[in-house]
Amino acid sequence: MSILVIGLGKLGYPMAEFLSSSQLNIKAYDIDKNLINKLKRGINPIPNEKAIESYINNGNKINFFSDLRKAFENTEICFITVPTPSLKNKSFDNKYILRSLSIIAKLIKKRNADQQNPYIININSTVSPGSINNTIIPFLEGKGLINNIDFAIIYNPYFVALGDVVRGLESPDLVLIGCENKFAKRFILEIYEKIYKSKDYNFLNFLEAEATKLLINSFLTLKISFSNMVKNSFNDEKRVNVGKILNVVGKDSRIGFKYIKSGGPYSGPCLPRDTLALKAFSKNNKYNNLLADAAHKTNLLSLNYLKKDLELIKFTEKKSIVFAGIGYKSNTPSLEETFILPLIDHLKKKNLKVFYFDEYIDTKIKGVKKIQMKDIEKYSNLVFLSYTDSKFNYFSKKNNINVIDIWSQIEGENIFLSLSDLIYKKKFK
Ligand SMILES: NC(=O)c1ccc[n+]([C@@H]2O[C@H](COP(=O)([O-])OP(=O)(O)OC[C@H]3O[C@@H](n4cnc5c(N)ncnc54)[C@H](O)[C@@H]3O)[C@@H](O)[C@H]2O)c1
Repeated sequence: MSILVIGLGKLGYPMAEFLSSSQLNIKAYDIDKNLINKLKRGINPIPNEKAIESYINNGNKINFFSDLRKAFENTEICFITVPTPSLKNKSFDNKYILRSLSIIAKLIKKRNADQQNPYIININSTVSPGSINNTIIPFLEGKGLINNIDFAIIYNPYFVALGDVVRGLESPDLVLIGCENKFAKRFILEIYEKIYKSKDYNFLNFLEAEATKLLINSFLTLKISFSNMVKNSFNDEKRVNVGKILNVVGKDSRIGFKYIKSGGPYSGPCLPRDTLALKAFSKNNKYNNLLADAAHKTNLLSLNYLKKDLELIKFTEKKSIVFAGIGYKSNTPSLEETFILPLIDHLKKKNLKVFYFDEYIDTKIKGVKKIQMKDIEKYSNLVFLSYTDSKFNYFSKKNNINVIDIWSQIEGENIFLSLSDLIYKKKFK
């Protein structure tokens, strides 16, 4: 069995390594020639995804190609993991998928006439509901191919978190497969049964699977916004410990603890855009999705609460602050939809002094100096922990530094849930 993986980015490359770990014959293609050259030399282009190294060291054998025609030869299925950026109306743009498919369609046509089975196209990129039926199948038919005879489609998105993609691939809670063709269903099961000992396979039709991907992420944003609603409702009430409240709420097994905790707004490349894409889909269906809207608006409100809170640095000793991390989570070099950049921007506009350190991201932010963690005291005695990271335990005993720990991850006399909390407690000490 020979599998072609198209698009070797943050999801596609770990996925190719993961598939290859089960002795499947993997051919991998990306439009980016520099990336292919790196991969051919055995360089892991996503060094923060450390678990990939074990695949490379264990002799995973992937054949890398910068020519799609050559990569396609003798394969029976392709996994497509190219970007699907959000459009202005917040649904996803399928243009990169279609760009790959226009070449794949020609190659399918040229396949031997004696091929009995359809070529399987497995789309792993996140698409908006309706894309397979309304865009992708008609596009291939427009190229002269017959659905379920020349090709068969699968929609198989993954639920992975950046920084921990390999674990998400190896141990998913569920496998979601949109498929309407018996041969393709048997084929993909054969692949996954080589990989997973036993798994919860969920076969849905295309529209159901497309919606399910967005619904799962949108439910997570609801949970996060719920927690932030609790936190911000008690913003001025210093006698209330929101963490303690949520800890009790989460004990109800119908609710659970995951995402029911004190923290920041949701951010990153998946949750915000999936929630907005669901809202856009509902709007297309003339349904006013008040829940997605509420999650999104509550999220913006949480950001505003943080902005207002951090403006209080003007009342602190050095009138400056250091952000410990500017990305949306630890171990991730992505700045996509991070809530830290709007915070920094806001404080800069208020002429407040801002610094940052980040071991995963090296970017220039105008008017904001990047420093080293060990040098913090030279610049400020106030640190904002942008995400959870065990390395931040460093601050728990640094009593000359006040720490704003909105995620409630470390304990110590110098640790505060918010800046207003810090100012309040110092005032009444
Ligand atoms: N990264 C994640 O954790 C994650 C999680 C769930 C879903 N997804 C979805 O997976 C898709 C890809 O995301 P990503 O984070 O891997 O993106 P990415 O930007 O990291 O990687 C995309 C790769 O596709 C390549 N590419 C672009 N056009 C191409 C083409 N025509 N042919 C071949 N290669 C092409 C790019 O060069 C790049 O290497 C998106 O739809 C995203 O929503 C990603």
